[in-house]
Amino acid sequence: MTTSPIQTQLETLQTEAIDAIADSSSLDELEQLRVKYLGKKGQLSQILRGMGKLSPEERPAVGNKANVVKEAVQTNLDRQKDRLQQAAVAAKIAAETLDVTMPGVSRPLGRVHPLNGTVDRVLDIFVGLGYTVATGPQIESDYYNFEALNTPQDHPARDMQDTFYLPDGNLLRTHTSSVQIRYMENNEPPIRIIAPGRVYRRDTVDATHSAVFHQVELLAVDKGLKFTDLKGTIKEFLQRMFGSELPVQFRASYFPFTEPSAEVDVQWKGKWLEVMGCGMVDPNVLKAVGYDPEVYTGFAAGFGVERFAMVLHQIDDIRRLYNSDLRFLRQF
Ligand code: DAH
Repeated sequence: MTTSPIQTQLETLQTEAIDAIADSSSLDELEQLRVKYLGKKGQLSQILRGMGKLSPEERPAVGNKANVVKEAVQTNLDRQKDRLQQAAVAAKIAAETLDVTMPGVSRPLGRVHPLNGTVDRVLDIFVGLGYTVATGPQIESDYYNFEALNTPQDHPARDMQDTFYLPDGNLLRTHTSSVQIRYMENNEPPIRIIAPGRVYRRDTVDATHSAVFHQVELLAVDKGLKFTDLKGTIKEFLQRMFGSELPVQFRASYFPFTEPSAEVDVQWKGKWLEVMGCGMVDPNVLKAVGYDPEVYTGFAAGFGVERFAMVLHQIDDIRRLYNSDLRFLRQF
């Protein structure tokens, strides 16, 4: 049996196709090869169109051969397709690889300043006791800083606080007690407020004094408030601030806006430390805001934030709190 020219053509097609498939480098290219060799108008179809001229005896062998060639080409197409797809996935993975050993970008974390941290602790404690946070302006009138707080023009207590006066007759508040008046003017009892803020005094700056510092003011006004309520509140506060079972003592003192008045000491590291002033709100103060002192009584207290921060964190110089020295601030 002789080999017909069609069979030779088929063999050539097979060799050529398999080589081209092996050389292809993209799925697009591979698809073009499929169309070129096996497509409807492809080379295989064209060759088979010549089968009509063959004798009936020749046809089965050529038909067989055509099938074998078609299958071989198709198998090679499938295999190459797999290979190219895998290569594409591998390339994609390689491009998206994350180097987990690369050093990270470190973002410096800020910290709460020890003064703010101290105020936050104080506010937390009083808010927990049902108090509301109040604030007032740092530039004040003589009325709110002194007059309404039972400290008239010629009152000797004005010398206790060296005041910065402004050219327009206003002043920089010397204490947060002015917030008491502003709050009471705008609210009716019962009142329970805690008022943090910045205050100013003409003090020479040294290790324990600053011309600008911070206070927290406490005020409660209600029917039937007594000195024991003040004592209980202050004790509770100090124990939460410094730790439980801390000895606390009240010493009689004087403030124009309270009667009676006291200063409070805590025993801290073996020494009595003065930490705040307090007292029962003077009836004249209640009258100044239009409250009837026969119906309402109140208690108040005020203390310096710097002093608390210094005691709690064992800071030896108040100026460290204002220097913004990161070596210092990072310790809190
Ligand atoms: N305002 C006072 C000062 O700056 C502190 C003070 C004392 C506030 C007694 C009060 C108080 O509310 O009752 O020295």
